[in-house]
Amino acid sequence: MANRWTNTFTTADITPEPLWLNRRQLIAGLGAASVAGGLAGSAHAAGEALEPNSFEDITSYNNYYEFGTGKSDPAENAAALDTSNWSIAIDGLVDRPGDYSLADLTDGLTEEERIYRFRCVEAWSMVVPWNGYELADLLAKAGVQAGARYVAFETAVQPEAMPGVRRSVIPFPYVEGLRLDEAMHPLTMMATGIYSKPIPNQNGAPIRLVVPWKYGFKSIKSIVRITLTEEEPPTTWQNLNAREYGFYANVNPEVSHPRWSQASERMIGGGLFASRQETLMFNGYADEVAGLYEGMDLSKLY
Ligand code: MTE
Repeated sequence: MANRWTNTFTTADITPEPLWLNRRQLIAGLGAASVAGGLAGSAHAAGEALEPNSFEDITSYNNYYEFGTGKSDPAENAAALDTSNWSIAIDGLVDRPGDYSLADLTDGLTEEERIYRFRCVEAWSMVVPWNGYELADLLAKAGVQAGARYVAFETAVQPEAMPGVRRSVIPFPYVEGLRLDEAMHPLTMMATGIYSKPIPNQNGAPIRLVVPWKYGFKSIKSIVRITLTEEEPPTTWQNLNAREYGFYANVNPEVSHPRWSQASERMIGGGLFASRQETLMFNGYADEVAGLYEGMDLSKLY
């Protein structure tokens, strides 16, 4: 198993590719059919459908350091998160800054289901059926001003509920950011549900970012502030270790993490004979997003 500090994969973890491919071909069509507009479905190779992980997988193997660094810590501890009367402060370069309730933010919008592959920088992946809204539609409520070039996000800090915050396992609040065109991309969503249930606390209740072509650490949880800025905002993992974690963090099988390969990934929920699968450029969403990075040296974007 890989984590931020070690890479202990062995060849014993590797299952020949045709095993997982055949299984996935059997259910071809299932994932794409339920995705609004077919966006996620179209992003993957022909013949491959996205078979969602179980609700149990998705909600029991998490990264949410505010609740501890172990994979089961969030599920064990996050019940204490207070999500009542949630509001998001939207400020910076917007026409209508202020505190927006979830109802304000989603008023008039239709909740969508999007089945996305989710790839952690630690080289594991899941497929998650998210419910939520395009971030662009939420930002439109506040009115993005012409000078804005980046979007900064911040997670709630509730020390009494968050043992990882009390122990300062990393600096908090957790912060993340996107370039404005990435934030406005139709694949970028704010998730409020999984499997049509309200998003569980350990997955970032009541509202979290999902950017499917980037490593999972970009997908910041339990957001309380969104700031439109002119300058690239600081981000948690880049602040912690800029040599290993970049601002862009686009999934790229050709660019190794300094301590492990990103060429393949372990699928969560695969059981004892868990297969590994090849990691796809931009996590399988290259057709949709590669154009955002034209002219940039992708090897430098880790
Ligand atoms: N957001 C906050 N606030 N705190 C975190 O520790 N972990 C990130 C991201 N968002 C994290 C976070 C990482 S490393 C990953 S891989 C994903 O959340 C995990 O999301 P999941 O638990 O829903 O799979």
